[in-house]
Amino acid sequence: MSKIKEIKKQYLDAIFRVSSEEELEVVRLQAIGKKGDITLKMRELGNMKPDERLKIGPQLNALKDEIDSAIRSRREELFDQELNLKLNSEWIDLSQNPRLKPAGSIHPVSQVTEEVIAIFSDLGFYVADGPQVESDYYNFDALNIAQDHPARQEFDTFYLANSEGLDNQSHVLRTHTSPVQIRYMEEHGVPCRIIAPGRVFRSDYDQTHTPMFHQVEGLAIDTDTSMANLKWVLEEFCKAFFEIKNIELRFRSSHFPFTEPSAEVDIRCCWRGNQLKIGEGDDWMEILGSGMVHPKVLSAVHVDPKKYQGFAFGMGIDRIAMLKYGIPDLRSFFDSDIRWLKHYGFSATDQPAIHRGLSR
Ligand code: PHE
Repeated sequence: MSKIKEIKKQYLDAIFRVSSEEELEVVRLQAIGKKGDITLKMRELGNMKPDERLKIGPQLNALKDEIDSAIRSRREELFDQELNLKLNSEWIDLSQNPRLKPAGSIHPVSQVTEEVIAIFSDLGFYVADGPQVESDYYNFDALNIAQDHPARQEFDTFYLANSEGLDNQSHVLRTHTSPVQIRYMEEHGVPCRIIAPGRVFRSDYDQTHTPMFHQVEGLAIDTDTSMANLKWVLEEFCKAFFEIKNIELRFRSSHFPFTEPSAEVDIRCCWRGNQLKIGEGDDWMEILGSGMVHPKVLSAVHVDPKKYQGFAFGMGIDRIAMLKYGIPDLRSFFDSDIRWLKHYGFSATDQPAIHRGLSR
């Protein structure tokens, strides 16, 4: 009897003293594990006289239950203690300002391209793409610029040397985005409504010309598309892009082999000191070439010019970026000068979107 009390005290003390779940497990095995003290004592019951067994048996059972439940509650206690310790030591100070890593910025050409895409998407135009190394056929022939056409000279084309073993087609760095018109209609047919932003190349270099620059092509073909639609689309675009209600466009009669009639489009503007103002004053700035797609271009992609017609335009992305953001020298766009980028660049989180304004 006193032996049982002793065992009980010994183990309850031990359970109380442990300070981790591992130590508790050691005590549990010593007491009520397979070879534990109390387990072994219970095995001895079989050798006892019946009256002794009747007396000791229930006491041992009670002891085992008590030790067992003491271990369980101690385990919970240790678990809680450990959790509290963690909660108190591992905490985050949400009031602390994060240390922002110096982020890069978005180049004005990328920003303006996104703005142009946002506006034309809103007007229902799909964004198409084409290769920068282009065949003579797509850059010229299909656009009604035959081999001996004087317009070929006007483009200051970069020609690629023909490598042996390749097909005999001559290739160029595309001089405009117009070949995407051909590629798109060949693949998808008409009616269609697309823009095609991208790089173009011409051998030219001064304050407003660089050998590589960016254009965005526009093309809309349907059974009843007219020059009036072209005018409306361009006006809507300019209002949205320059974020000015009173823009004014001037359509100047011009000539492109792939449009008839053709027009170059100027926007009203003036200089106030160093600041270029769009929509007011007496100056005009050319921003794009345009016209009604030439029947020969439609025929080249097997579209019936008697049934379908439409407009096309090609606008200088860098040029409208210079106008909108007051950047004086085109060449600086491509100098990769970090200080220039810091000044004219845009935050990566400043995504142009129609519904909340294009630029902030
Ligand atoms: N491709 C012409 C250029 O680069 C622009 C243009 C495109 C004109 C479409 C008319 C129609 O100058």
